[in-house]
Amino acid sequence: MNIMITGAHGLLGQKLALITGRETSHRLLLTDLAPRTFFINPRFDYQQLDITQLSDVKSLVMSFRPDVIINTAAWTDVDGCEEDRQNAWRLNVDGVKNLIIPARRLEHCCIVQLSSDYVFDGHSAPYDEKARPNPLSYYGKSKLAAENALLSSPVDGIIVRTQVLYGTGYELRPNFVTWVLSQLEKGMPFRVVTDQKGNPTLADDLAYGILKLIERGCRGVYNVSGPESLDRFSFARNIAAVFALDPSLIFPTTSGEIGQSANRPPDSTFITLKFEAACNERLSDTMSGLERMHRQIRDGAMHTDLLSDSRFI
Ligand SMILES: NC(=O)c1ccc[n+]([C@@H]2O[C@H](COP(=O)([O-])OP(=O)(O)OC[C@H]3O[C@@H](n4cnc5c(N)ncnc54)[C@H](OP(=O)(O)O)[C@@H]3O)[C@@H](O)[C@H]2O)c1
Repeated sequence: MNIMITGAHGLLGQKLALITGRETSHRLLLTDLAPRTFFINPRFDYQQLDITQLSDVKSLVMSFRPDVIINTAAWTDVDGCEEDRQNAWRLNVDGVKNLIIPARRLEHCCIVQLSSDYVFDGHSAPYDEKARPNPLSYYGKSKLAAENALLSSPVDGIIVRTQVLYGTGYELRPNFVTWVLSQLEKGMPFRVVTDQKGNPTLADDLAYGILKLIERGCRGVYNVSGPESLDRFSFARNIAAVFALDPSLIFPTTSGEIGQSANRPPDSTFITLKFEAACNERLSDTMSGLERMHRQIRDGAMHTDLLSDSRFI
């Protein structure tokens, strides 16, 4: 298969590149905004690509002729999207439409679009794939619009809804776990909300799940997340426990008290049975996911356990 990955330098993009690249039967084209890549594997082709630039997207897609495009590129700053809606729409919705346009001209091109639990309002969890979306934030609205753009197009699509993504990698922006770790390492007390609940998802696992969905020829919407739901405060305490840092530095607070610009769903717990049945897989629970990330950081080789884990061979 020819597989093209957008946003390949992001958290999920890095994991997808490594895991998809293990299969020698796949030809891989990694793309992101940066002019050059830090991936050194000569089997990884890399091209700079801004998915908001339709003519660049068209020419790259028509020359590489992907069987699958995995679109991880997005503006994931939820409060930023609330404040700069035009930019959020340009990347999170128009960027997806720009991929759909050339994909329509290829015979069998499937687009995998990453989506979010923020398409839900969080008032009627747990959510399966048929639950009615009702986003509270502009980020959530843009992710839902992207889902609809793909599902209403003639292009084959897989919508992968995920949440609370965490993991380690090279030059990444902070995710919840790396943010909590940086706070704990400062040794200063800090506050974490108790009224936002969801399923933490190890990015390595999510990448593996996406590859399974592709290889099994799945189409449509899938919830893909870790199996347990917990509030952010409890998750932060688990992080402290696994990394042997001081949990007494973490104090409970509420979303109202910290005043984020965008509203978040209070409980977006997922039901993941559809994915589990289709792929015969279940992602790591929180403690094993954190322990795995801990090993990756401790060993200093961000992805070595991804590369040697027998599940991936
Ligand atoms: N993180 C979560 O908790 C979470 C939860 C649910 C769903 N998701 C979805 O999962 C996907 C992957 O998330 P992630 O955390 O891996 O994101 P990420 O780490 O922010 O990676 C996104 C990548 O896209 C790149 N990018 C930004 N603008 C671009 C453009 N115009 N054209 C091409 N690439 C561009 C970014 O480059 P720069 O760094 O240079 O900007 C970055 O390398 C996203 O679709 C997100 O909405 C994430």
